[in-house]
Amino acid sequence: MNERIAALCGFLDASHSQYHARAYLAGALDAAGYTRLDEAEDWRLLPGGKYYVTRGGSALLAFRIPEGSPRGFLISAAHTDRPTFKVKENGELDGQYARLAVERYGGQILSPWLDRPLSIAGRVLVKTEKGAQVKLLDIDRDLLLIPNVAIHMNRSVNEGYKWNPVTDVIPLLGGPESKGKFQALLEAEAGGPLLSHDLFLYIRQKATVWGIDESFVSSAALDDLECVWGCFQGFLKSGGSRCIPLFCALDSEEVGSCSPQGAGSTVLRDTISRICAELGLSTRQMLARSFLVSADNAHGLHPNHPELADSGNAPMLGKGIVVKFNANLKYCTDGLSAGVFRAVCQQAKVPTQNYYNRPDIPGGSTLGCISIGQVSVPTVDIGLPQLAMHSCYETAATADALSLEDAMQTYFSSTLELSENGFQLC
Ligand code: CO
Repeated sequence: MNERIAALCGFLDASHSQYHARAYLAGALDAAGYTRLDEAEDWRLLPGGKYYVTRGGSALLAFRIPEGSPRGFLISAAHTDRPTFKVKENGELDGQYARLAVERYGGQILSPWLDRPLSIAGRVLVKTEKGAQVKLLDIDRDLLLIPNVAIHMNRSVNEGYKWNPVTDVIPLLGGPESKGKFQALLEAEAGGPLLSHDLFLYIRQKATVWGIDESFVSSAALDDLECVWGCFQGFLKSGGSRCIPLFCALDSEEVGSCSPQGAGSTVLRDTISRICAELGLSTRQMLARSFLVSADNAHGLHPNHPELADSGNAPMLGKGIVVKFNANLKYCTDGLSAGVFRAVCQQAKVPTQNYYNRPDIPGGSTLGCISIGQVSVPTVDIGLPQLAMHSCYETAATADALSLEDAMQTYFSSTLELSENGFQLC
């Protein structure tokens, strides 16, 4: 397997929750010599310095200060969360079997979650003598499964079935003898009594590269960890810009971005203001020269349902990065921002494709339109074409994953001179 695709799969397999994704990125930044900053402490930023800051355990922002007077911010934003199920505080449900009480997180396709091994990952708050301590937890074994009803008892299941979240998607933990053991399992894994938790289900199936030419990659959470990784690799490998490259991985996109660590929060604006204050720069002037790439996966042309795509604007898997357009601003891309991003991709020798929703099928929206309320800079919405968005196992093309790394390396290495009258990229 291509080394860079193996690294992507390594990230996907290690990131069973947004907290684990954040921890993996932080580990890579530590290894690359970045200095960790704390929002609660003073920051001392030096020209040539490399830094990162985290918030809420699931958002991470990394940046570098160039030598000389910075020209503006070159920002990327992608999200660490995925549609899944969140474990309720009361743990188990009543009934004949041991079953887990869960709540839907985001808008997932329910049926793929059934009949496959699942487990739990996230963070717990452990009670200690010195107060409560956050600990990451990933129970690394086949722990749960949501069983289907036999076709003999649901004869019309193949004619379309309305899934009821109250009854149809409850994970099975064990037989009657296993009832009441869940809390003890969590506390054993956590190494102490728990005060509370943010725990999510994940599928046990690992990321895989497949197809007659091995052109596809499938995994949980390609939306949006594939973009997180592509932007991150581009950021790490870049250099030489006179702007401030700023990589953001944010949480809560699948549920509206309104958490302290989501795109609807002040986290990006706060980080930018602090960097400017530290360097004695005007935030307003810096923002007027800044640019944001909002990277979130896009719908590729479905092999069995090409009719669902807009005619002439159906991105193919493997044919390049998707630039998303919507006249009503469900996506933030406009002529100027599309032009900047296409120029970057041309320089990186990476193909791009266009996406529009089919006019009678309202599409989703993404974090760019939300962050623009906090950080109002020219923004382009892009993504990688994928199939089965919001299934628990999604599919994309390996070639596109590499394209994003290359394009973002070029982006973060550029010096962008941008105004409403045009731009220059060098
Ligand atoms: Co997404």
